Amino acid sequence: MTNISNTTALDSAAEIINRAEYTLDDMETLLSIDDREGMDYLFGKALEETQATVGESIYFRGIIEFSNQCEKNCFYCGIRRDNPNFKRYFLSEDEIMECARWAQENNYGSLVLQSGEDSSEEFVDFVERIVKRITKETGLGITLSVGEQTEEAYRRFFDAGAHRYLLRIETSDPALYARLHPRDHSFEQRIEALRALRKVGYQVGTGVMIGLPHQTIRDIAKDIEFFRKEDFDMFGMGPYIIHQDTPLASPKLIEKWEAEKDDIFNLALRMLAVTRLALGNVNIAATTALQAINPVGRELAFNAGANIVMPIITPKKYRDAYILYKGKPCIEDSAGVCKGCLSKRIDSVGRDIGWGERGDSPHYKERTSVDAL
Ligand code: 5AD
Ligand code: SF4
Repeated sequence: MTNISNTTALDSAAEIINRAEYTLDDMETLLSIDDREGMDYLFGKALEETQATVGESIYFRGIIEFSNQCEKNCFYCGIRRDNPNFKRYFLSEDEIMECARWAQENNYGSLVLQSGEDSSEEFVDFVERIVKRITKETGLGITLSVGEQTEEAYRRFFDAGAHRYLLRIETSDPALYARLHPRDHSFEQRIEALRALRKVGYQVGTGVMIGLPHQTIRDIAKDIEFFRKEDFDMFGMGPYIIHQDTPLASPKLIEKWEAEKDDIFNLALRMLAVTRLALGNVNIAATTALQAINPVGRELAFNAGANIVMPIITPKKYRDAYILYKGKPCIEDSAGVCKGCLSKRIDSVGRDIGWGERGDSPHYKERTSVDAL
């Protein structure tokens, strides 16, 4: 039975959710709801908002993790430059084309090409070439997730046929960013990169990790405020998952993370829900990291505001070398298994799959038609 204090808490959550625009305090209140009934209420409202703003369908983007070579050294990431404990790989053009053709034959509307960061001319040439080839031979939508590059490189990729770009800000708090990255990884440069992507004409996606050491709920409310101010189109947010071969993984921090992981997971779902409620018609991904903590993490995300999923289509033999965080799911599976498994998961929550469609965010269409006036 609902007790009186719960009813009051739900009334106040309902009142905040109905506000036209959220203040930081509003978002912090919603992000802090931690009882089951309150969370279910928040997720239900986010689902209603999803259906009203972006529709019923979940869109697939097959993700090809084409290289795990990275010149950066982010303190949280398993494939950082200084981790020697796994083999580096780089897929050939033909291997990538084979994945792309598989996606096309299986009626996926879009691909994501993801890799570690590499600023060399050879890398930029390679990405430009493969984007051109995929566009010409398959016509699939292409999202790039290849880190910070020059504006000229962004333009070349765009002209070659890429139309979406993912670059997470990781945290919108400059001081926290500085604690998570070596000195030569610049927060300002990342903001500039995101703005350059928008200028070139991409649908721009960003996101953060949730549950980072020293991160507060206020920081997360500020992340959502940042998303709104910079007017992004797509979001990928996931729980921070400790990786044993990183500088952030002392035995003490591992123990702390293990003790807190369920709370981090729930906070991640609440962030998805509040982002949907605050921003409306944007695309929000059910990230793989959610499933690393909870076996039904992605289904729960579809019920809390997500409308995008990125099934892994990287060839099976490379999957165990693309481990950004501990417990990454699907590394033993093939593309076909991932397709069947995710289809069932989406079916289980009563949603449709937008087979063969690109599933661009209505937010992008809205802002570009306004820009064009
Ligand atoms: N836990 C969760 N997400 C991580 N990423 C990198 N390392 C981790 C981790 N330990 C995310 C970053 C990056 C994306 C490709 O993967 O947000 O932008
Ligand atoms: Fe490289 Fe990205 Fe990992 Fe940072 S998060 S080390 S840029 S792959």
